[in-house]
Amino acid sequence: MSEQINIVVLAAGKGTRLNLDLPKPLCPIFGKTMLDFVMQEIRAFQAMADLEGPIDLIVGHQKELIEKHLEQQDMVNFIHQEKQLGTGHAIQVYFDQKENVHQSPTTLILCADTPLIKANILTQLWQDFRAQKVDAMAASFIAENPTGYGRIIKAGSGMRIVEEKDASAQEREVCEVNSGVYFINTNHIAKHIHSLSTQNESKEFYLTDLFQPQFNVTTSIFPQGVFFEGVNDLSQLERLQRFFMQQKILELQKQGVNFINGDTVYIEDDVSIGRGTTIYPGVHLFAGTVIEENVLIEPGVIIKNSTIAANSSIFAYSYMENTKIFSGAKVGPFARLREGTVIGSDCKIGNFVETKKAELASKVKVSHLSYVGDAQIGENTNIGCGFITCNYDGKHKHQTKIGKNAFIGSDCQMIAPIEIGDNSYIGSGSTINKDVPPNAFAIARERQTNKPDLAKKFLKNSD
Ligand code: UD1
Ligand code: MG
Repeated sequence: MSEQINIVVLAAGKGTRLNLDLPKPLCPIFGKTMLDFVMQEIRAFQAMADLEGPIDLIVGHQKELIEKHLEQQDMVNFIHQEKQLGTGHAIQVYFDQKENVHQSPTTLILCADTPLIKANILTQLWQDFRAQKVDAMAASFIAENPTGYGRIIKAGSGMRIVEEKDASAQEREVCEVNSGVYFINTNHIAKHIHSLSTQNESKEFYLTDLFQPQFNVTTSIFPQGVFFEGVNDLSQLERLQRFFMQQKILELQKQGVNFINGDTVYIEDDVSIGRGTTIYPGVHLFAGTVIEENVLIEPGVIIKNSTIAANSSIFAYSYMENTKIFSGAKVGPFARLREGTVIGSDCKIGNFVETKKAELASKVKVSHLSYVGDAQIGENTNIGCGFITCNYDGKHKHQTKIGKNAFIGSDCQMIAPIEIGDNSYIGSGSTINKDVPPNAFAIARERQTNKPDLAKKFLKNSD
């Protein structure tokens, strides 16, 4: 039968050192927020360890934003810490407000600002905590640069945690640091949490004061410290983001994705790429992007929330958002595909083409310098250079429909709403404002007049 433990995420702090307008747990990282990663890993840990129960969040600073962010998630409780008087105070408030806190003999506490935490690390800590039968266990690691972390100070057979601000010069030399992730017996917290003092440099209640040599408490040292790194400022955020991306790229490389220079690629968590795909330098792949097998993505391409089917090529400096591209299509260089674009299989979209809410069936060509907005184009139709759908009349947007196997000469405009039939042919330079039936030839331009010998009248250097 599943067991129940209290799970508390500390998320009330302002994140002053981060210097952002957002509350710290909502700080963006890797296409999500820090809190999203922490929540995701806690849920995975609950599944791994066969635990059930809600996740309790201590919120305070800009709590409305955090509550709104998680409104779709079940099994989340919010506990309001009105004034943020320290991590120990956060847990005091938790014990004051949480009903039935004693129903669960164990309490897991972690912070919303450690986004790399992993479910398997929580599982290991949980197993170690149960095996050692201590009252409290803090996950610790050896930091290359311990600045900012609480130091683990061994005292006889016991230990305590000293915050950096309160540490002596000698204590600051210690590199074993507190990760901020703890399993603690609920009774141990209840017994001591209201006796914490604020007699320290920060004048705050420190949760870490639950770790004292006279208590039955210990640490579990983890070799992979990076998974516990906290984000207190923007340089730490950048560092973790880079680490995230490196890990993601390594994972994709193992699956057969070829990065020409992975260090220059920006890639978010929720991106998948198929085997045999090549990613050139300077590519940006944002959340929601799915790239299938054997796709070529040339330098400088930016893709947001789009799907690119197998064997397509996206040439240099193209930009796309909320777009779907079917197999074998060629796009760019310098194409801009906006929301609602669907590019059929084996289409060709050339340079300086912009599309928006445009559905192109297979084998359509729009090779140069065009705007295709609010349009449907049938299979095998060729659109010449300099084509424009005049979709907006100043108040409303209108549709352009072009059938299959049509040929639209260069420099044509379609004044929407308009419908052009299958197998039709539109002469170059036409401004079309009436529907064209299938199989028709349409031309709408001024007839040309030639005036013999008149050119010299206008040429500068001819008399
Ligand atoms: C804390 C630990 C430190 C540890 C480090 C790991 C304490 C006193 N120190 O320091 O030993 O090495 O984490 O990253 O616990 N929060 C509240 N209410 C408050 C204060 C903070 O909810 O009143 C939340 C913050 O939003 C944050 C978490 O608690 O998510 C930790 O607070 P933070 O100020 O980041 O503590 P650190 O200085 O990093
Ligand atoms: Mg912190």
